Amino acid sequence: LAPLRIGVAGLGNVGATLVRILQKDAPELTKKLGRQLEVVAVAARSRSRDRGIDISGLAWFDDPVALAKWDGIDLFVELIGGEDGPALAAVKAALEMGRPVVTANKALLAKHGLTLARMAEESGAQLGFEAAVAGGIPVIKTLREGLGSARIARVFGIMNGTCNYILTRMGNEGISFGDCLKDAQALGYAEADPTFDVEGFDTAHKLAILATLCFGYEIATDRMRVEGISTISQHDIQVAAELGYKIKLLGIAERTENGIEQRVHPTFVPKGSAIAGVDGVMNAVALETDHVHELLLAGPGAGGPPTASSVLSDILDIARGTRVPPLGVPSEELLPYHEAPARAH
Ligand code: HSE
Repeated sequence: LAPLRIGVAGLGNVGATLVRILQKDAPELTKKLGRQLEVVAVAARSRSRDRGIDISGLAWFDDPVALAKWDGIDLFVELIGGEDGPALAAVKAALEMGRPVVTANKALLAKHGLTLARMAEESGAQLGFEAAVAGGIPVIKTLREGLGSARIARVFGIMNGTCNYILTRMGNEGISFGDCLKDAQALGYAEADPTFDVEGFDTAHKLAILATLCFGYEIATDRMRVEGISTISQHDIQVAAELGYKIKLLGIAERTENGIEQRVHPTFVPKGSAIAGVDGVMNAVALETDHVHELLLAGPGAGGPPTASSVLSDILDIARGTRVPPLGVPSEELLPYHEAPARAH
């Protein structure tokens, strides 16, 4: 098989880690796949910034759209971020040409995911987004390929590593919210604008993607009830502990009699429950289905290596020619959206 030529747009934490892994592990990956994976081009804002990777031999693009359309690549990887702008334009440009795309961009997918999925289906291109939800946990693969025809009643979990890291350290070490957030940023867990993490929007984006896959419903994140953790104090955490609980930021989407209800908010979870044991940067996604009953997937939810590893798993699928089931919204059983009531949780 001819080498798979990869173009990577966005060389932040995840992008630079991906290029490093692809360069370092190239011989091993080639052996495993029987096909060479080669990063041939990159696009980013600054060419000279030191990222600890050697990009001197790669084609350079200032404009990600030009990279997405360049005939020197077979696969476009979008790690720019942002719900519109260059990320959207570049992903559309690649899909329109029938070129496969891998993205970790949850904000983009929460807003335009169905449009992009339809474009991909029309042009026959693959669209991989394993890294967009819960970092290194293969939850999208589990939903698309692992659960067969199981009917999902409820999906919930810890979907933001930054918030879980902050809440864990505030609880265990009594460190202030601000200091924990600074550390999460230094460790490369937080979004470029950490408001997305701490105000719950990042969790809402990931929940929207999961709920769309679980329930086949076109979800508007702006109609989801979203509350973050920026107002959680040491006192709240201590009171929870005295009552036998931990506070976790959960995203929850479930079928109700009135339709799909979805919400993001800090939640008291009983100490000793599986989800309470998920600490630090770890994420966990629980899927309640009619056949499997409850499945809990846990693992590292943020940071360069776990996220890049999920990007790589999509790249490997595409390199092998694996076709995953289409993403289109089922035409039957579109459930009405039910606005979650404001209530004590
Ligand atoms: N900022 C995100 C988090 C990164 O903390 O979970 C992974 O999506």
